[in-house]
Amino acid sequence: MRSIPVVMDVDTGVDDACALLLAALHPAIDLRAVTCVGGNTDVDQVTRNTLAVLEIAGRDDVVVGRGAERPLIERAVHARHVHGDDGMGDLGWARSTRDPDPRHAVQLLRDVLDASPEPVTLVPTAPMTNIALLARTHPSALRRLERIVFMGGAAQRGNATASAEFNVFHDPEATAIVLETAADLGIPVTMYGLDVFYDPTVTRDQARSLIAAGDDVARLAGELVGFQCDRFGAEQATIGDAGAVCAVIDPAGTGTTPLPVRVELAGTWSRGRTIVEMRDWTGDLAHDPHGRADAVIDVALEVDARRYADLWLETVRPGAPAPA
Ligand code: RIB
Ligand code: CA
Repeated sequence: MRSIPVVMDVDTGVDDACALLLAALHPAIDLRAVTCVGGNTDVDQVTRNTLAVLEIAGRDDVVVGRGAERPLIERAVHARHVHGDDGMGDLGWARSTRDPDPRHAVQLLRDVLDASPEPVTLVPTAPMTNIALLARTHPSALRRLERIVFMGGAAQRGNATASAEFNVFHDPEATAIVLETAADLGIPVTMYGLDVFYDPTVTRDQARSLIAAGDDVARLAGELVGFQCDRFGAEQATIGDAGAVCAVIDPAGTGTTPLPVRVELAGTWSRGRTIVEMRDWTGDLAHDPHGRADAVIDVALEVDARRYADLWLETVRPGAPAPA
């Protein structure tokens, strides 16, 4: 199996940590670099969390860059109520002894993309501030992209607000810039949004088995799931951002439809909403004063949840008995 060159942009985060474990350990992924941005917590804590997860996964070879502290326009609003004070469930894991690369994330992204002999798949699982800055400062670097598979947005509902998903709500302008630039450059985009994000889940019992397995990777994976079960008072928890990495490894596990997508920037109650065009009557479309959005992207509306949850479980604990 030829491995896929991947660069991630994260706001680690409990579920970003789940995604990093998968990307760092699965043989189908050649993880080239991880860049960090403020989101679930502040960018310094995100960077510390990211370095710690990669060290636990035995991947100190993966270069990590510290990026934007705040969105392009909005002030930083973190999600510690979801991810804990340290952004990674307050689980108490030791900090990595490694420092991030001295380059800013945007410079690191440009250098890694420009140096890659083959096209790279970019997997943002965070507000897309770093990617937007890259698009504005080094647009030619984006031509090295095979595809952007981002966790963000939603066709139906929000989570940060009734209308908007957190990553897009946090920096709507960044998402709009990235979608516009991808459309201009002909870069394929997959939107792994809330329509599928919550479906691949792992149970509290499976988390207990991971913790009992004893090795650090499985124990961290189990503790991340257990933290979410406790936080939300549930017996299962989503693998969240890890689903976007699953969509790179096993795209057939996701049902996508090419649809026009805009980002609402001006709405009082709808700012940060991804407006996904799902109408199918040409009469409506022909009379819409807004016309069709330029960005037509592959929107994930269905997911084989068990397939992706099993993919994650089997990666974080190889040889684990198949779930009941
Ligand atoms: O809306 C979910 C997204 O927001 C995930 O990426 C989660 O980590 C937070 O960043
Ligand atoms: Ca995230």
